[in-house]
Amino acid sequence: MSKVRKAIIPAAGLGTRFLPATKTVPKEMLTIVDAPIILYVVEEAIKAGIEDIVLIAGRGKHAIEDFFDMSYELEDKLEREGKSQLLARVTKARDAANIISIRQKHALGLGHAVHCGLPIVGKEPFAVLLGDEITMEANGEANVTSQLVKSFEETGTSTISIMKVAEKDVSKYGIAEVEEKSSGFFKVTSLVEKPKPTETTSRWALPGRYVFDNAIMDLLTNAKPSLNGEIQLTDSMKVLCQQKGLNAMTFSADRYDAGDKLGYLQANIELALKNPELSVELKNYILDLAKSLK
Ligand code: G1P
Repeated sequence: MSKVRKAIIPAAGLGTRFLPATKTVPKEMLTIVDAPIILYVVEEAIKAGIEDIVLIAGRGKHAIEDFFDMSYELEDKLEREGKSQLLARVTKARDAANIISIRQKHALGLGHAVHCGLPIVGKEPFAVLLGDEITMEANGEANVTSQLVKSFEETGTSTISIMKVAEKDVSKYGIAEVEEKSSGFFKVTSLVEKPKPTETTSRWALPGRYVFDNAIMDLLTNAKPSLNGEIQLTDSMKVLCQQKGLNAMTFSADRYDAGDKLGYLQANIELALKNPELSVELKNYILDLAKSLK
């Protein structure tokens, strides 16, 4: 069974939900505690054993490429001052995987962004991690991408993560119709991108983590624009599920939509509460604040 060694991280969106901050700063570079969102996503891929990470970037996103590049002056200074550990997270990530950037020249949708990774992915299976979604597993647990990789490597069938959402949120996501095979493990029978709650009875949404058989690339090559005039990844997944099968798994990790204002704030607060430097003081502050809000 072929090993999953490649991942595509689409990070080319315009970040309109975060304007004006994202006028000049890519949303993937916004900070969660002390690291940009994209570093959490890259770290998840590396922990899942990915060797080649393809960042699909759009115009004005060079800050992401620069972030994973050497900063000679800064690194030399920190080295001389014995402070290299301040950059340890990013140097570790860039040493652990090949981080490759491909420009998506036209904003033609998520399906098109994923297809831009074809020159690096070639004929291999690959993971997709959306660049503004953060997942955090409990200590000692395999992360969401690792679980999908394991499932793919065991079954040879593409596997995606799913999560239950409220009826009012169905129209914000790709929605999967599924049949449960065993606890937390499903066969996908159909998919629809951002339906009205009346258009599907399913409440299983796609949170942005996928592992695909390479066949999805052929489907994306021939895909036509649909919702909002964009090439939707979900449309090709629907064909993939009919032609080659598609599995879905739930997960217990915390997940944050860091590209959304509330999700971003929640990620900052919850991850800061887990940070040993900040947890005690932040917790006391939140408790005091909560009292004053009553
Ligand atoms: C994209 C996908 C959608 C998925 C969502 C997760 O939509 O098209 O299927 O559920 O990400 O956040 P977007 O949020 O980019 O509009």
